[in-house]
Amino acid sequence: MRPIHHLFGIADLDHEQIEYLVNLGHSFIDINRRSLKKAPTLRGKTVINLFFENSTRTRTSFELAGKRLSADVINISASTSATKKGESLIDTGMTLAAMQPHVLVIRHSVSGTCQLLADYLGDTSIVNAGDGAHEHPTQILTDLLTLKQTWNSMEGKVITLVGDITHSRVARSHLLAAKIMGYKLRVVAPKTLLPAEIERYGCEVYNDFDAALPGSDAVYMLRMQTERMTDNCSIPSIREYHEAYGLNRKRLNRAGSDTLVLHPGPMNRGVEIASDVADSVNSHILSQVEHGVAVRMAVLAALCGGDDHDE
Ligand code: NCD
Repeated sequence: MRPIHHLFGIADLDHEQIEYLVNLGHSFIDINRRSLKKAPTLRGKTVINLFFENSTRTRTSFELAGKRLSADVINISASTSATKKGESLIDTGMTLAAMQPHVLVIRHSVSGTCQLLADYLGDTSIVNAGDGAHEHPTQILTDLLTLKQTWNSMEGKVITLVGDITHSRVARSHLLAAKIMGYKLRVVAPKTLLPAEIERYGCEVYNDFDAALPGSDAVYMLRMQTERMTDNCSIPSIREYHEAYGLNRKRLNRAGSDTLVLHPGPMNRGVEIASDVADSVNSHILSQVEHGVAVRMAVLAALCGGDDHDE
């Protein structure tokens, strides 16, 4: 397998590397479930989490992932970093790299931030924890690990991705992963939330949610990324959006009794997803959160060159 030095996006990974990270994540699930949640895999390694955007799941799971594998983990958020004092992002990156961390995990509102910094950070590995509307690779690996618990293979499965496709880095990374891993994506959104070039990803595009549901093995709901919307006329109103694009019980029934419901979080109940659906037996949303820790353990271990996690 080609070694993985940085994780900028799904676009840089091949089938073998994705399978490897998902399988390694699978092997870490157990550590998170036992009472002593510690393995020595990353002893002596340093991980810095540098977050310039809000995050609950991603940031906490990277921190837990590093700590449970015995790495030294430092968290820096935008409000406490020197960029608030006028330091450039590149200078902040070079300053942190001078302290010789093994991995720098970065979340930033600007697409391409991780690639930009990579040229200045020497040997430090970079993990993209979400860059603007570009990519969010560890979320997709998390989703694939979650789906692996129910399905043996992704080959030929149909995932219907619904909501703000234009501004979603999760959507973009799934569009890339679907091609590599052989699953089919149906994309559902109002025209104002669909990127112009969407068809080139080879997905089926729908404006009518109900038409996309029959035959969906999973329905993946997305939050409206209002923080990235430059205008406020993408949808007429929240109520109308929920009626046309919200996942409710009636729609879930239309898809099928075994259809899985996924969401990367944070959820807006009553907007893209009805509360009873979010809490239903079909929902794997909290499993995604659990698997997020295991996948990030896998990514940190792979980048630091160690996948041996026996005590
Ligand atoms: C996503 C993100 O930040 O891109 N969330 C996450 O990482 N769990 C999606 C979102 O913010 O809606």
